[in-house]
Amino acid sequence: MPVKNRLAEMHGEITKWRRHLHMHPELMYDVEETAGFVVDRLKEFGVDEITPGIGKTGVVAVIRGRKDTRGRVIGLRADMDALPIEEATGLDYASTVSGKMHACGHDGHTSMLLGAAQYLAETRNFDGTVVLIFQPAEEGGAGGLAMCQDGLMERWGIQEVYGMHNMPGLPVGEFAIRPGALLASSDEFEIVVTGKGGHAAAPHEAVDTTLVASHIVVALQSVVSRTVDPIKRVVLTVGTFETDSAASNVIAHTVRLQGTVRTLDPEYRKIAEERVRRIAEDTASAFGATAEMTWTPGYPVTMNSEAETTYAAEAAAAVAGKVNDSADPIMPSEDFAYMLEERPGAYIFIGNGDTAMCHHPEYNFDDDTIPAGCSWFAELVERRLPVA
Ligand code: NI
Repeated sequence: MPVKNRLAEMHGEITKWRRHLHMHPELMYDVEETAGFVVDRLKEFGVDEITPGIGKTGVVAVIRGRKDTRGRVIGLRADMDALPIEEATGLDYASTVSGKMHACGHDGHTSMLLGAAQYLAETRNFDGTVVLIFQPAEEGGAGGLAMCQDGLMERWGIQEVYGMHNMPGLPVGEFAIRPGALLASSDEFEIVVTGKGGHAAAPHEAVDTTLVASHIVVALQSVVSRTVDPIKRVVLTVGTFETDSAASNVIAHTVRLQGTVRTLDPEYRKIAEERVRRIAEDTASAFGATAEMTWTPGYPVTMNSEAETTYAAEAAAAVAGKVNDSADPIMPSEDFAYMLEERPGAYIFIGNGDTAMCHHPEYNFDDDTIPAGCSWFAELVERRLPVA
């Protein structure tokens, strides 16, 4: 595999960084130690600018090429946060923090971007500027959005942006990508149904909220099956159903439902919101109850732009020899989507081999993927910002 020789030499050192981060996981925006580690390494590499505290605890750094004749700027992004999971790998470098674990490989992503940064700062074999983006709170905290709201794209003049995620099940060193929607949007809803509580033996004097909410759950399943074009991808799940009755002989007064809608098609986010609200309110009304629906928008669809997907795939093919450039999209979501809403760019999967799936207590990032991952970032920069 034609990884860059310098990055192959650095494999052992980058693996040490990765394992250090793995032992010291931090959650959400509380990634001070991780961000500090990133800043220390970047200082050692002699990058041109380092700005911590973007998006609360994100780090932005700049490496200028040996030339800057065209004013080109590209952003490379890694995520730094871990998950509230008790690690069960039994590794000698397992998490030292009870209840926290790098179970999504963000330790690997951060280390690979650091490796690429060291290489780029040493070689500077590009014409333009590279902006390194280390973000907090990918796992549900919208750290990518927070960095964008702090002016990430405008302040650093980023013109296109790229990110990478490891993928269990894809062989180590291989890449997969597609233009268009790669990961789903993820919105949440809550429905509070209010009827009239009462005695189980006197339903005629009550409005049975459990029955009403059950009809709502069933009717919600028609949102996807009867509203969505069958060739589009939308999934709706009701995940919780809580009544305020604690006894078999009590009719509940209120029921709270919580669910999620995921789609690869942004237009269906709005349609789903309207349909869920209408079904909840009107079904409740038909039974003499009321329903209040709250919609909480989450991460957008991760939408790879056409040209940048091609550039990302070409760099991957140069590193790995081949690339799957028509990968199937998947329904988890990813907050790199916010960066792709602001700038053209692409998100690529890199193989993590035959490991447990992300977010599993036995998951582990495969360090053998490091040379290919670092080389992809570096190759992409040298291809997009060639020195004439
Ligand atoms: Ni992840």
